[in-house]
Amino acid sequence: MKRRVLELLSKHGVLIEPDAADFLCRQPNPLELVETQLLISERNSSMIITLGQLQNILSSKNIAEMNQINILTKISKPPMEPKINVLKDITGNSTCIGDINSFVKLFRSRYKTVKKLLLRRRELLGAASISKARRSDGEIRLVGMVSEVRTTKNGHRLIRLEDEDDSILVLAIKNSPAFSDTIVSDEVIGVIGKVAKKGDMIVADEIIRPDVPVGGGMKKNDSDAWAIFVGDIHVGSDMFLENQWNSFIDWLKTADEAKNVRYMIMPGDLVDGIGIYPEQEDELRIDDIYRQYELLAEYLKEIRDDISIIACPGNHDAVRLAEPQPSLPESFGKFFDSNVSMVGNPAQIELEGRNILIYHGRSIDDWIAAIPGLSYDKPLDVMKEMLRRRHLAPIYGERTAIAPEEKDYLVIEDIPDIFVTGHVHHAGMGDYRGVIMINASTWQSQTAFQRMHNHMPDPCKAFMVHLGIGKARVVKFT
Ligand SMILES: [Fe+2]
Repeated sequence: MKRRVLELLSKHGVLIEPDAADFLCRQPNPLELVETQLLISERNSSMIITLGQLQNILSSKNIAEMNQINILTKISKPPMEPKINVLKDITGNSTCIGDINSFVKLFRSRYKTVKKLLLRRRELLGAASISKARRSDGEIRLVGMVSEVRTTKNGHRLIRLEDEDDSILVLAIKNSPAFSDTIVSDEVIGVIGKVAKKGDMIVADEIIRPDVPVGGGMKKNDSDAWAIFVGDIHVGSDMFLENQWNSFIDWLKTADEAKNVRYMIMPGDLVDGIGIYPEQEDELRIDDIYRQYELLAEYLKEIRDDISIIACPGNHDAVRLAEPQPSLPESFGKFFDSNVSMVGNPAQIELEGRNILIYHGRSIDDWIAAIPGLSYDKPLDVMKEMLRRRHLAPIYGERTAIAPEEKDYLVIEDIPDIFVTGHVHHAGMGDYRGVIMINASTWQSQTAFQRMHNHMPDPCKAFMVHLGIGKARVVKFT
């Protein structure tokens, strides 16, 4: 049986680790499982299936399928106690002293972490160091960090790739498969290609990204709680949409569909801040940062006590601008009730068995500037790029300030079940390889600065995800 299973997978270009193959063959009807579960996605063809992924695939239901379940008729257990487990957060862990050596450590941490993710890919089996690759004949595979990208006068792309000991130029010939995907500065990529110019250059056949492997997505659990996501409140701004916000709070108190909301996640720009953009002072209702947070705390006191609130800062909030940002300091945190937890930006947390990545999204500006086709009205496309490249903000030296921490907190090391951003004041929800992506709207109408940049917000939408089954929905308060 095992031989037939392996032959069938191999026929479709899918590799499987030995312990995963053994596990598969112990299941009833393994050949049927291969056909109905493992070969349904084109993504399988580019990965090695591990035991963990296989167990995930076999025990998970497709979110679309899960959405058909009427959860209101299924709730039978008493609610779990709210439990917030912070998995990854710079708060209290900063090592940043800002010297040049710290940046070396940051980029080394990024290289090592993303390299580890890349080496899980079948295509990069046997990847060599740059110094070894340049002495090789035939096809070579390597991993490196992009230190420079430029276009030659003939329209080809020339990439300077570095690893810990060496660097080399990689040529992606115009219109070749290796040329099709934009390369951004400081990302870590895999390259398959051939050595040219006596070891001084590699002509790329293919660029490999760490990406999100097959088999993701929420497995059903016992939780009956909903998490609700509301971003970019901007309390203190003249354009804060107070009436709509109050409608939202009333809905949380009274609506039947809100009674099982037990977590509220706020991905930054909690207040409008002071001096954030030119002539902001003309659009501030409150020009005292302490008063802005006091008022936010008053609004949050109106929210039901049984809802745990988790909030991270954004670029309008009163913490350092450089990412990763620590949580709001106690001088502001003291205004809030005990059901409000302040975390850093980004932060990865666990709620009722769900891994949730919260990132304000300042780097979306840099992604849009760097990659043709990305735009402010489609933030989910940007989030997909972050997941594909397993990094929230790889580009150094543009609009997103990066703090030289010894560990790169912006690498997406663990794949989240839910990934939420804000920042662009748009709204959207989608799915990428089982990861639920949310861009969490705003509660601020158009500012003069946004008008000048022809940016129209999409405000007053609250996105909800059922943590037990992954069902998702949006509620509008416009
Ligand atoms: Fe904002």
